[in-house]
Amino acid sequence: MGYKDVYEAWKADPEGFWMKAAECIDWIEPPTRALDASRAPIYRWFPDAVCNTCHNAVDRHVEAGHGDRPAIIHDSPITGTKHVITYAELRERVASLAGALRARGVGKGDRVVIYMPMVPEALEAMLACARLGAIHSVVFGGFAAHELAVRIDDARPKAVIAASCGLEPGRVVPYKPLLDAAIEEAAHKPEFCVILQRDQQPAALIEGRDLDWHAFQVGVEPAPCEPVRGTDPLYILYTSGTTGQPKGVVRDNAGHMVALSWSMKNIYNVQPGDVFWAASDVGWVVGHSYICYAPLIEGCTTIVFEGKPVGTPDAGTFWRVIAEHKVRSFFTAPTAIRAVKREDPRGELAERYDLSSLQALFLAGERADPDTIRWAQELLGKPVIDHWWQTETGWAIAANPLGIELLPIKPGSPAVPMPGYDVQALDEGGHPVKPGELGAIAIRLPLPPGALPGLWNAEERFRKAYLEHFPGYYETGDAGMIDEDGYIYIMARTDDVINVAGHRLSTGAMEEVLASHPDVAECAVIGVADELKGQVPVGFLVLNAGVDRPHEDIVRECVQLVRERIGPVAAFKRALVVDRLPKTRSGKILRATMAKIADGAPFKTPATIDDPAILDEIRAALGR
Ligand code: COA
Ligand code: AMP
Repeated sequence: MGYKDVYEAWKADPEGFWMKAAECIDWIEPPTRALDASRAPIYRWFPDAVCNTCHNAVDRHVEAGHGDRPAIIHDSPITGTKHVITYAELRERVASLAGALRARGVGKGDRVVIYMPMVPEALEAMLACARLGAIHSVVFGGFAAHELAVRIDDARPKAVIAASCGLEPGRVVPYKPLLDAAIEEAAHKPEFCVILQRDQQPAALIEGRDLDWHAFQVGVEPAPCEPVRGTDPLYILYTSGTTGQPKGVVRDNAGHMVALSWSMKNIYNVQPGDVFWAASDVGWVVGHSYICYAPLIEGCTTIVFEGKPVGTPDAGTFWRVIAEHKVRSFFTAPTAIRAVKREDPRGELAERYDLSSLQALFLAGERADPDTIRWAQELLGKPVIDHWWQTETGWAIAANPLGIELLPIKPGSPAVPMPGYDVQALDEGGHPVKPGELGAIAIRLPLPPGALPGLWNAEERFRKAYLEHFPGYYETGDAGMIDEDGYIYIMARTDDVINVAGHRLSTGAMEEVLASHPDVAECAVIGVADELKGQVPVGFLVLNAGVDRPHEDIVRECVQLVRERIGPVAAFKRALVVDRLPKTRSGKILRATMAKIADGAPFKTPATIDDPAILDEIRAALGR
C-alpha cells in the first residue's frame, strides 16, 4: 500500500485504523473501542483499555528474550564517556528506582518533576514514574529557577528528581542551587527530592528533604508495573504559550503508545533492534517521544547524547556517533545542521566516517530552510525528511512516510498529513482557502491518538487556546499553505511564540520579565531572523520618564534579568531603548510589523496604526 491508500484507509474508517494499529501494544485489558466522543470537542482514545507504558517500553522486550539487546547507549563527548545499558539492566534499574519511590509514597496519579541533563537516569526516572502510574513532568535544564518554580506550582509534585549538575561545553551548570531556589520560590513544596550526584559537581543535600539517588534505593523491593487506564495521564510537559504561564500539555498512556509505535514503523522505518537517534534533549517533546518512549516501545536502541553539534569536540561529532553506533534513523533540528554546515561547509569531517548504516535524516522543531536540506542531502546522499509537529501533538502531523513510501521531497515543505490528521488552511471566517493561499493551519477534530487530550487542570484554557477560534478544529497556531499536491508549508506562527534554535519560547514571558525592571515603563519582544538559530529575541524598552542612567546599563541589566528568570536557553542578548512603541489606535503593540522591519521584509503600514512616524523611529533604532 502506498501513502495515498494508507491515508484513505484511515479516512474511510478512522476507528478501525487505530484499533488495528493498537494490536502492536501489550495490553493488560485490550481496548474494545477506539474513540470516546461523549464529551466532544474533548476526546479520549481507547477509553476502556488497561495497560502500562513502562511494561511496553522495557519489560516486554526482556520477557520476549531480548534482555541482552542494548536499550540505551549513553554517548557523552563532554565527559568523554560511553556506556551501554541492555534491556535487562534497564528493567532492573527502573524497577529498583520505582520501588524506592513507591516506598516513599509515590503512587498512581502523583506528580514527579524531573530536572535532569542528558544522562540515562533521566529516562530511567521517566520510566520509573510510568511503571508506578505516577505522572512525570520533565523540565528542560536550560530553564532557570523561576521557570522551574512556575512548573512546580502548577504540577504540585510529590517529589522532584534532579541531577546535581548539567554540563555545557566548557562549563558546569549546577542544577541543585537552581532547584533549591525554585522550591524556595514555589508555594507548593514537594515532600522530597532525589539527587543524582555527578562527579563533575556533587551537591550538598538538605537533610530531611533530599535523598541520594543510589542510597535511597538500597534494600528496597523492586516495583512491578502498575495497571493504569489507557486514558490516565503518563506525563505533563510544559510548553510556551502567549503569556508567562506555560501550558501543561497532558499525554495519555494508550493513545501515546499506539501513535508512537505506528510512527516508528511508518515514518521512521525502523525495526526492533535498529539504532535510533534523536539528538535533542529529554526536556523537549522530541526527547520524550523519540529519545525515550518510541524507540524503547519499539524495541530499538536509543542514543542519549550529551553534547552539541559543534564544539564537542568538532562539527564531525554527529557523523562519528552515527558511524560508531550504526544509527539507522537520525533526527535533529535544522539549526543543528546549520551549525555543522557553518563550521564544515564542505562536509570534510563527514568523509572520515562510514555512514552506510544511515537511511535518512529527519528534521523538525522549526522550519527547515531549503538550503540546509539540500546541503545535507548532498553531503549524506540520503533522503532528508522535514516533518512538522508540536509539543501538543507528540508526533508528526505532516511527514514524508519513509516506512510506507518515500514521496518526492519538496524542500521547504514537511510533506503530507499523516493518518489521523485532516489538515486545512483556513481564512479568518474558518473556511478552507484555495491551494497555494496562506491561511491559519488547523486540524479537524478529533485529533489522533497521542495528541493532547487537554491541558493539566486547565480545561477552559485548553478550549480557549485551541478549540474556540475555529469550531470543529484544533488551531495549531501556525500559518501556512497547502499546495495542489496536498503538501503542507508551515511559514510562521500566528501568536507571540518564537522559535529559537528549535526551542519554543514565549515573547510574552520575556516581556513580563522586562516589565519588572524598575526603569522600564513599557516593552515589546519580537523574534528577529537569525542565520543560525532561525530566530532570536530582541527587546524594545521604553523607559520611565526621568530615568537618566546610561542606557547600556539598563540594557545589560535587562539581558541579565531574562537569563536569571527564564534561563540561558532564551538566548536573550539584545535590547534597544526607544521613545515609543508602535501601536494600533486601540493600544495593541504592532509586534508583527516591528519584526518585518527588523528582518528587512516588505510590510504594509497597518491602517489601524496610531502614529505611523513611530515606525521610522523603530527602523532607525534597528539600523534598517
Ligand atoms: N542546561 C543549561 N544551559 C543550557 C542548556 C542546558 N540543558 N542548553 C542550553 N543551555 C545554554 C547554553 O549553554 C547557552 O548559554 P550561553 O548563552 O551562556 O552560551 C544558551 O543556553 C543557549 O543555548 P543553545 O540554544 O544551545 O545555543 P548555543 O549557542 O549554545 O548552540 C546550537 C547553538 C545550534 C549548536 C544549539 O542551539 C543546538 O544544538 N540546537 C539544536 C536544538 C535542538 O536539538 N532542539 C530540539 C528540538 S528537535
Ligand atoms: P514545539 O512545541 O516546541 O515542538 O514547537 C512547535 C512549533 O515549532 C510548531 O508549531 C511550528 O511553529 C514549529 N515547527 C516544528 N516543526 C516544524 C517544521 N518541520 N516546519 C516548520 N515549523 C515547525
